[in-house]
Amino acid sequence: MQQLSVVILAAGKGKRMVSDMPKVLHRVGGQPLLGHVLATASSLEAATRVVVYGYGGEAVKAAFASEAGVVWVDQAEQLGTGHAVAQALPQIEESGVVLVLYGDVPLTRLETLQPLVAAARQGKLALLTVELADPHGYGRIVRNGAGQVRRIVEEKDATPEERSLHEINTGILAVSAAQLRGWVSQLTNDNAQGEYYLTDVIALAVHDGVAVEPFTVTEPAEVLGVNDRRQLAELERFYQRRQADTLLLGGVTLLDPARVDLRGTVVAGKDVVVDVNVVFEGVVRLGDRVRIGPFCVLKDAVIGDDVEIQSHCRVEGAEVGAGAQIGPFARLRPDTRLAAGVHIGNFVETKKTSIGPGSKVNHLTYLGDAEIGAAVNVGAGTITCNYDGANKHKTIVEDGAFIGSNSSLVAPVRIGKGATVGAGSSVSRDVPEGGLCLTRPPRKDVANWQRPVKPKQS
Ligand code: UD1
Ligand code: CA
Repeated sequence: MQQLSVVILAAGKGKRMVSDMPKVLHRVGGQPLLGHVLATASSLEAATRVVVYGYGGEAVKAAFASEAGVVWVDQAEQLGTGHAVAQALPQIEESGVVLVLYGDVPLTRLETLQPLVAAARQGKLALLTVELADPHGYGRIVRNGAGQVRRIVEEKDATPEERSLHEINTGILAVSAAQLRGWVSQLTNDNAQGEYYLTDVIALAVHDGVAVEPFTVTEPAEVLGVNDRRQLAELERFYQRRQADTLLLGGVTLLDPARVDLRGTVVAGKDVVVDVNVVFEGVVRLGDRVRIGPFCVLKDAVIGDDVEIQSHCRVEGAEVGAGAQIGPFARLRPDTRLAAGVHIGNFVETKKTSIGPGSKVNHLTYLGDAEIGAAVNVGAGTITCNYDGANKHKTIVEDGAFIGSNSSLVAPVRIGKGATVGAGSSVSRDVPEGGLCLTRPPRKDVANWQRPVKPKQS
């Protein structure tokens, strides 16, 4: 099979974004526009991915430094889409086929592009078109009486009759590399914009007797580019709706599919229920029957079966065991590991902390750098004093211990198995197994206490 090279045009400045950032670094679904296109090219098993960059090139390259196998081609002057492709051609396999994509057109599906690549491998020039109610500004597809595509005419070069055509050029095409090279070398800039138009290769193919096969996409959002932030927002909504549909069809209940946002990947079990205004980021795994309340953010989290996360929680870099109950208003920070059946209640923050099966931390608590055993009760207002201003220290609370409310555990410190810490204690030495630690000062009572009074004003 002929190798596929994908050429991604991304040299445009994107002035209408009104941004200091190159356009292709703006995000849809949490991922830069160009990231979507590079991922699509990878899914097509492209042997080569060439990005033609221009404005803000260094920033674009830096953003994708970790992406292997991308060839970057600098188009210093933007002389048109044909000129841009010409810059990329020396980087691609002559015996293969080329697919041209755009760094600012992020949402084209794999299924839409595969037939174009297949047609190119059969020696045709494959072209992706779409019917638009308002075709203004786009290149129009000119067909003959038999419906065959003859050429593309740009808006600015079109006759009034041609402007009335509603089928437009998405810009996406696939063809053999050798043929493309030949045609691109024949392009001129003798047109209304003084640019080298890639679109002129269609007429050249027709002239050479190469079959031009149009494929028409039915969903315009798949081929829409981003020129301004309004279009960015529209594509974001389209993308989110598509993600929500995937979750729904995968068996997840979304109480309102318009009020869930995926900025990453969610892998969900059966009968998961997600309430409104939930944001998923990174890679999130949800077990069976997980319930997520309104206004939660889950990022890079693994949530076990039957977990309930009540409203207003942030869970990041955490693993939550089966049947655990979280929230409302809880914050699980990176390296939190909760075993099965743990309860984390309101205004509880955990960081780099593991909590054993069945333990409860129900109110107003901070646990950092802590190892909490099984069946431990951490009372309201307990704080691990894990930071001495320079170093972090560890708190260990062994199985079955009971920490009374409003206690400070001054790390490094160990609370032994089954030990008890009385409410209001400040614990800076280890508590032995089974013991009681009480650091509360003895109570003092004064009868008939006279409170201070304000001096009388004269
Ligand atoms: C182009 C097509 C038009 C099509 C429209 C779809 C041509 C001549 N016209 O029009 O038929 O309907 O796209 O949106 O191809 N780019 C470069 N280097 C350049 C010029 C452009 O990398 O020198 C990149 C831009 O960053 C952009 C893309 O190519 O991503 C399209 O360029 P743009 O100027 O928007 O093309 P249009 O004139 O709108
Ligand atoms: Ca454009």
